[in-house]
Amino acid sequence: MNVLLIGSGGREHALAWKLAASPMLTKLFAAPGNPGIAEEAECVALDVGDHDAVTAFARENAIDLVVVGPEAPLVAGLADALAAAGIRVFGPSGQAAQLEGSKGFTKDLCARFDIPTAAYGRFNNAPKAKAYARGVGAPIVVKADGLAAGKGVTVAMTLDEALDAIDACFEGAFGAAGAEVVVEEFLEGEEASFFCLCDGVNALPFGTAQDHKRVGEGDTGPNTGGMGAYSPAPVMTPELTEQVMAEIVRPTLAGMNEMGIPFKGVLFVGLMITTEGPKLIEYNVRFGDPECQVLIMRLRDDLLVLLNAAVDGQLGHMSARWRDDAALTVVLAAKGYPDNPQKGSSISGIREGESDGVKIFHAGTRRDGDTLVAAGGRVLNVTALGATVTDAGRKAYAAVDDIDWPDGFCRRDIGWRAIERERS
Ligand code: AMP
Ligand code: GLY
Repeated sequence: MNVLLIGSGGREHALAWKLAASPMLTKLFAAPGNPGIAEEAECVALDVGDHDAVTAFARENAIDLVVVGPEAPLVAGLADALAAAGIRVFGPSGQAAQLEGSKGFTKDLCARFDIPTAAYGRFNNAPKAKAYARGVGAPIVVKADGLAAGKGVTVAMTLDEALDAIDACFEGAFGAAGAEVVVEEFLEGEEASFFCLCDGVNALPFGTAQDHKRVGEGDTGPNTGGMGAYSPAPVMTPELTEQVMAEIVRPTLAGMNEMGIPFKGVLFVGLMITTEGPKLIEYNVRFGDPECQVLIMRLRDDLLVLLNAAVDGQLGHMSARWRDDAALTVVLAAKGYPDNPQKGSSISGIREGESDGVKIFHAGTRRDGDTLVAAGGRVLNVTALGATVTDAGRKAYAAVDDIDWPDGFCRRDIGWRAIERERS
């Protein structure tokens, strides 16, 4: 099969690496890709926002399957354009991608189909949103409705913070994404991420992970796209996983079908495990980044076979097999991330770091002649397998220490919750 992978981050490098290992693969293209992906695929400089160009490229190169990594092209309807041209695509339609593209859409779906989530209100003006927030009181959570590059959520510990967040949304801090606001109940518990491959009707559980969103050790400082992750998430026992399937995932797929917008692709289920049981925090319609990297390290099966089954509505017949090992990934970021990452510094030592069970994925790199340089905020994902999370962490940090990049930094405590559990 000829496959075109859309995206350029660490998530897509992990997908490219795994797809390249499939005996079914003839040729892998990536648009736009990155220097790590270029070791597995031919990178092509396509404008992913130009759906006609992507469709034309797929036709000209006899692409049998397009795999879309990030959410923005999905919400923009890339999968619809490809499907309309008769090209097979792994990823939801623009309408189904509203599960990530509109928080209000997802909250209404939960209300309609009895899916456990935080109590909420949807607002299109500040006075009404503020009145609701005052009625509930702090702590309370304010969310811009649309895609805001992970920055649209304010977990407000005081009412003033919530009121300021509401003003910021309606004053345009998140552009069009903030034209509508969801204000919701603050949930307490442990967070976990759960992934399912979906074929429109069936959902195949595809692993669990926990990430570290804050930039600083001890989960402090500003939010980021994720500074590290590990899999599996110890909190997600088999019983809890089945409860999430029964109460959250299956009703979502059934509800989407009832609304005439079946969901195909990756459903990323963001959960809060509360004393009342698991509740949905949010959906994403793609793999997490860096969660994908740890899932892929643990997956024993052929990813291409599974993605094809999802596209063909055949997931009901499939299972996924996982290594018993845990996986952990450490994000190396450019100094100044997330506010103002410094780009352009050179990196070496990646080869030394890689070994059996250790893989370094490129997230934001660029080649400058023979030199690898930092080209983004999150730059490398140093990923390792181990018998335990503790062991995987030890191997990942040993590889981190082999990398020579004075202008980069990482958190030294990735996996701390699981490591504490393993110690006791
Ligand atoms: P997001 O930027 O959408 O990934 O969400 C950011 C984070 O906000 C989530 O991972 C949670 O830690 C937190 N969060 C979102 N909604 C709630 C809620 N209702 N209660 C508590 N924390 C929340
Ligand atoms: N790491 C969080 C995300 O991909 O949304």
